[in-house]
Amino acid sequence: MEKGMLHLHNFLRWAILILLLVSLYQAFSKKESIKKTSLWLLISAHIMLVIGLYQLFWGRFGITKGLPEGVELMKDSFYRFFWVEHPLLMVLAIGVITVARGKAKALNYKASSWLFLIALIFLLVAIPWPFRAVGEGRAWFPGM
Ligand code: HEM
Repeated sequence: MEKGMLHLHNFLRWAILILLLVSLYQAFSKKESIKKTSLWLLISAHIMLVIGLYQLFWGRFGITKGLPEGVELMKDSFYRFFWVEHPLLMVLAIGVITVARGKAKALNYKASSWLFLIALIFLLVAIPWPFRAVGEGRAWFPGM
């Protein structure tokens, strides 16, 4: 279960990034198909929120397992990232995606393009990429 959730969380990252890039393109080029793409983006982002919350509380390093002996949350870069920075920025990004989807649905291309761009920046900053210290040993793709 834990592993499956992590793999799904990893996989959905790519689905969200691709859908976000396509939505951005459609917003900039004023394509009505943005309505459909942004709906899938919204659904994926909200599923991600639920999986993320599960991981944050009950995952391998979940809050219910507590901090290891001697670790201070804000002084430990790993726990600070996965308990504070990553969840906060991602919840914010998902909130921005939700508002952007509303704008996209109303075919407000200008507002949605800015909001999708802001969400993309949040995502790129908050993902534990394998080349970052916090993402060391993590996979680019599920199960790899
Ligand atoms: C669109 C939003 C999100 C993206 C793109 C994202 C992306 C990722 C990625 C790529 C990983 C590493 C997966 C791996 O090692 O295979 C990860 C781990 C994690 N994410 Fe997210 N995440 C998002 C939202 C959230 C949210 C909202 C929360 C919590 C409320 C969250 C909590 C976590 C936790 C706790 C881990 C560590 C899990 C573990 O190592 O057991 N994520 N996230």
